[in-house]
Amino acid sequence: MSSHYLTVSGVSKRFGGLQALNDCSFTLDRGLITCLVGPNGAGKTTIFNVITGFTRPENGDIRLGEQSLLGLSARRMVDLGICRSFQNLRLFTELSVIDNVTVYLPSKTDENPVRPLLRPFHTWAETRRRREEAMAFLEDVGLAMRAKDIVRNLSYGEQKLLCVARLLASGAKLLLLDEPTSGLSAQALETMLEVVLRLKDTGRTFLVVEHNTSIVQRLADNVVFLHQGHVLAQGEPAEIIARPDLGEIYFGGAL
Ligand SMILES: Nc1ncnc2c1ncn2[C@@H]1O[C@H](COP(=O)(O)OP(=O)(O)OP(=O)(O)O)[C@@H](O)[C@H]1O
Ligand SMILES: [Mg+2]
Repeated sequence: MSSHYLTVSGVSKRFGGLQALNDCSFTLDRGLITCLVGPNGAGKTTIFNVITGFTRPENGDIRLGEQSLLGLSARRMVDLGICRSFQNLRLFTELSVIDNVTVYLPSKTDENPVRPLLRPFHTWAETRRRREEAMAFLEDVGLAMRAKDIVRNLSYGEQKLLCVARLLASGAKLLLLDEPTSGLSAQALETMLEVVLRLKDTGRTFLVVEHNTSIVQRLADNVVFLHQGHVLAQGEPAEIIARPDLGEIYFGGAL
C-alpha cells in the first residue's frame, strides 16, 4: 500500500502528433510543497489538467491514496479537496473581492427559490455566515481590507492572492498552483510565499509550478523535474538544483 498522498503513475497524453506527457510518474506527500519545474512546453499545465480531470490521459493512473481519480467529475474532485489555479486568473473582475470568494463556498441551503420568502431570518443568517466564512479566507491571504473593492481595481498580485482565497473557499486540501509568483512585484512575491508557507502549516498539500530557482529553494520540500512530458528526477531541492544535467536542459547552464 502506498503511503503517498497523490500518486501519478505512467501518465501519457498526446495532442495530435505531440506527446505532451510521456510515461509521467511522481508522488506528492501530504502537508508538503512540491515544486514542478521544467522548460516551457514540458507538460506542467497538462499534468495539472490531467490531475484535476480536465484532460483524460491515454495511459496511466492518478491516485489519491488508493482511489483512482480518472473519470471522476469536476464536482467530485472538488469534494475530494483537489483544486487548481489557472495561469490566466479567471476571476469575476466586475464583482467585489468578497463575492469572488463567496461564490466558491459550497452551497448548504437548499435551492428552493421561495425559501427566502418563507424563512427570511434563516436566509439572512445563512448569508451572513457565508460572508463571515469568506472574510476568514480573505484574512488568510491578507485581503480582508479589500473585501468590498471591485476586483478589476486590485493589483495583479492581489488578484493572484484572491485566486488562492477562492481555492480555500472551495475546500481545497490539495492546491495546484500554476505559476503563482509569475508577474508579481518583489513585495507581492514575498506576500505570496508567506501565504503559501502559512497554509502549508495548516496541513494543506501543494503542487506549484515555479520557474525561479531561488523561489523553488525557499518554497519546496520536494522538486519534480519534468522534461518533454517525462519526469527526469524527483527529490530534495538542493539535490535537483545541483544536478548539472538538469541545469543544462533547463537553461543550457547551471540551475
Ligand atoms: N489542448 C492542446 N492542444 C494541443 N497541444 C497542446 C494542448 N495543450 C498543450 N499542448 C502542447 O503540449 C505541450 C505541453 O504544454 P503545457 O502547457 O503542458 O506546457 P507547460 O510545461 O505548462 O509550459 P509553460 O511553461 O509554457 O506554461 C506544449 O507543446 C503545448 O503546446
Ligand atoms: Mg504552463
